[in-house]
Amino acid sequence: MLTPTAKKRVAILISGRGSNMVSLLEAARAPDYPAQIVLVVSNRPEAAGLERARAAGVPTLAIDHKQFATRMAFEAKLHQALLDARTDLVCNAGFMRMLTGGFVDRWRDRQLNIHPSLLPAFPGLDTHERALGEGVKVHGCTVHFVRLEMDTGPIVAQAAVPVLPGDTPESLGARVLEAEHRLYPHALRLVASGAARVVNETIEMVVPNVVPKTLFSPALYSAPET
Ligand code: GAR
Repeated sequence: MLTPTAKKRVAILISGRGSNMVSLLEAARAPDYPAQIVLVVSNRPEAAGLERARAAGVPTLAIDHKQFATRMAFEAKLHQALLDARTDLVCNAGFMRMLTGGFVDRWRDRQLNIHPSLLPAFPGLDTHERALGEGVKVHGCTVHFVRLEMDTGPIVAQAAVPVLPGDTPESLGARVLEAEHRLYPHALRLVASGAARVVNETIEMVVPNVVPKTLFSPALYSAPET
């Protein structure tokens, strides 16, 4: 079993309600979880997630990007805050601020992001609307290491959900969000424990992988006999 000192020190970056942050905080309560959440930072002081983190007893920091003349000045402050907290890993959880190459490089292979689509499909915004517009039958979410180009980088883990007849962006988004809340703690566990690591820009698993059953969408069925 991991001793508490072996746990990776994780900072979570948010911009809004922080529901993925909460799922990470909850997972990290387990004694055998390989990460502890040492800091939550928001670039928006009004982010609801800050209050949720405070209520959970986690140190929080608001670094309002509007108070900085340049992206680099904002990122220098953020970088220092992460160093001060002796951060090993950074988890972007609904952090809606583009990062420059300098920051991305400093945290290379130590910064994760969650995105609400099965990347490389639907990078960017409005992923659920676009998935419905394309008529895909399977949608989902991705946790990946951060690279300079938005929503790219080695994929650690993905979760798929079916697109159901009559889905709206809201109903599909809610199904994906539920999957996100299970996926992010799982992916962080893989990375923080050393079970998954970046090799040649893909993820190498150093533990055996249990192959899941196939998801069919629509589900397999036999036509009723007439
Ligand atoms: C989540 O759906 C997350 O995947 C998405 O923002 C939402 C944040 O919700 N992130 C992105 O779109 C980043 N490209 P939360 O604040 O409740 O975790």
